[in-house]
Amino acid sequence: MEILDGKKISNQIKEEIAAEVAQMKERGEKVPHLAAVIVGNDGASMTYVNSKVRSCEKVGFESTLIRLPSTTSELELLKKIDQLNQDDDIDGFIVQLPLPEQIDTQKVIMAIDPDKDVDGFHPTNFGKMALDMSTFIPATPFGILELLERYNVETKGKHTVVIGRSHIVGRPMSILMGRKGWPGNSTVTLTHSHTKNITQIISQADIVISALGVPHFLKAEMVKDDAVVIDVGITRVPDESREKGYYLAGDVDFENVSKKASFITPVPGGVGPMTIAMLLKNTLLAREQHRGER
Ligand code: GUN
Repeated sequence: MEILDGKKISNQIKEEIAAEVAQMKERGEKVPHLAAVIVGNDGASMTYVNSKVRSCEKVGFESTLIRLPSTTSELELLKKIDQLNQDDDIDGFIVQLPLPEQIDTQKVIMAIDPDKDVDGFHPTNFGKMALDMSTFIPATPFGILELLERYNVETKGKHTVVIGRSHIVGRPMSILMGRKGWPGNSTVTLTHSHTKNITQIISQADIVISALGVPHFLKAEMVKDDAVVIDVGITRVPDESREKGYYLAGDVDFENVSKKASFITPVPGGVGPMTIAMLLKNTLLAREQHRGER
């Protein structure tokens, strides 16, 4: 069994990006600038966004964090997005999800300029992704592809079972794993809450990608010998004995599943850090695409 070490690989990617930024600076060019908008003060979302901003600083990007109160109206958020669309200094921005219930997430995503949509959530970018056109690939699926590639994991002809059909992870992942090329060329089953015989389907998987958010859902007896197991789950489980009052749990019973798997991602330190590294990569790409225009 080999650990797919997202922490290590994400640090390598960040070093590669930092080297490119250093060259940009030497040439006297503008460095990439990422803005992140967060509405409300959900603990997990705040942690993710702060981590994204801190990583920008680490690689030499400029970053702007925009915190809006949980009572922000849809119109106010749309105005903020319009400002960011118009601001020539900003190369890319994200609006952290989920949003408070008074705000229509689809309207917000539609309002983002696709050229600055470094999350790859806008229908234009999502459509391009599905059509194998060059675009921003959503950071979490992009990070998983990068891990598979850097560890030389064979995906061609394999049966990939994706658990969960979220727009952020499961749905794009199912499209990407079935694309021509590598990583890809795999036969994909996308499972969800209405899937019948889900355990039987999972037991046939060469590659399992779990993005369910149910701690320790995937047990050793559910996976095939030598399966590749990717754990996207990261749930805060209350635990008074910990300093923070919780611990982070993946979807996978790591202790037991790791004994059977050929490759496996840990939680934390697997997919999570890769998401941030790939967001930075998308922002660098956005900067390169905007070069000459602004
Ligand atoms: N919420 C959970 N993951 C993500 C992500 O990758 N991007 C945004 N914007 N929100 C998220």
